[in-house]
Amino acid sequence: MARQATSDRKPLISGNWKMHHNHFEAIQTVQKLAYALTADDYDEVDVSVHPPFTDLRSVQTVLQADDVPIALGAQNVHQEEKGAFTGEVAPGMLAKLDVTYVIVGHSERRELFGETDEIVNAKAIAVLKENMTPIVCCGETLEERQAGQAESKVAAQIAGSLANLTAEVVGELVIAYEPIWAIGTGETASSDDAQQMCAHIRSLVKDQWGDAAAAAVRIQYGGSVKPGNAPELMAQPDIDGALVGGASLDPDDFARIVNFRLYQA
Ligand code: PGA
Repeated sequence: MARQATSDRKPLISGNWKMHHNHFEAIQTVQKLAYALTADDYDEVDVSVHPPFTDLRSVQTVLQADDVPIALGAQNVHQEEKGAFTGEVAPGMLAKLDVTYVIVGHSERRELFGETDEIVNAKAIAVLKENMTPIVCCGETLEERQAGQAESKVAAQIAGSLANLTAEVVGELVIAYEPIWAIGTGETASSDDAQQMCAHIRSLVKDQWGDAAAAAVRIQYGGSVKPGNAPELMAQPDIDGALVGGASLDPDDFARIVNFRLYQA
C-alpha cells in the first residue's frame, strides 16, 4: 500500500489484464507468475498486476498468503470518495485491498468512456490522497502521429493530467507513454521513437516541475510489449518500465518480460 521510493528509477513492469480473467483464472495466473519469478528478479524489477475489480480481493489473498512481492494494481478508479455513483469504485476501497498502483487515463478509458484530462487529473489526485501511486497514461493516435502532432498531444495530456500536482508528488508518479496505434495491434513503436517520446515527457516534467522530479519520475512504455521486444525497449535511457496488456495474460510471457535483463545483449 505504501507509495514506493522511486529516486533510483527501479524498473516497473505492470501487467494490465483489462477485461480478462475471472477470479479463478486470476488466482491461477498470479500463482504461476509467482512461481516463475525469484527473489533476484524482485531485487531488480518492481512488478505489478492489474486484474479486473472482481479479482482484486482474491489476488490480494494469494499474494499475502505466500508473501509474494508482486504489487497489486487496479485499472481504474472513481475520483470521488463515496456517494451516489452507481457502478463505480472509490479510491479508499482500493487502498483497503492494499492496492499500490492505479492506472488512470488509459487510452481505452479516454476513448470509450469519455475521460478527459480534467477527469484523469481528478483521479490521479484522488489516488494520491489514499497513498497509492497513479500510473498516468498518455499517447497519440496514428493520425496525430502522421500529422506531426504526437509531441504536442502528449504535452497537452501531461499538462492537463498532472495539473496542480507538486514537484515532490510528480517525482513519485509513474507515467505510461502508450501510443494508441501500438496498443493491442502487434505494432510496437520502434525503440528509438519510444525513447524519443519518453525523453520528451521527461523534459516536459523538467520544464514544469524541475530537475529532481524529472530525474525521479518513472516513465513506462506500453503498446504491444512482448518478450521479444522488451529487452531493447528497456535498454533505452528514458524508459523505466513497461505497461503490458496482451502479453501479461500469459504468466510465462509476462515473467520473460519482467526478466528482460537476462535477454539483453
Ligand atoms: P498491449 O496493451 O500490450 O496489449 O498492446 C497495452 C495496454 O493497453 O496497456
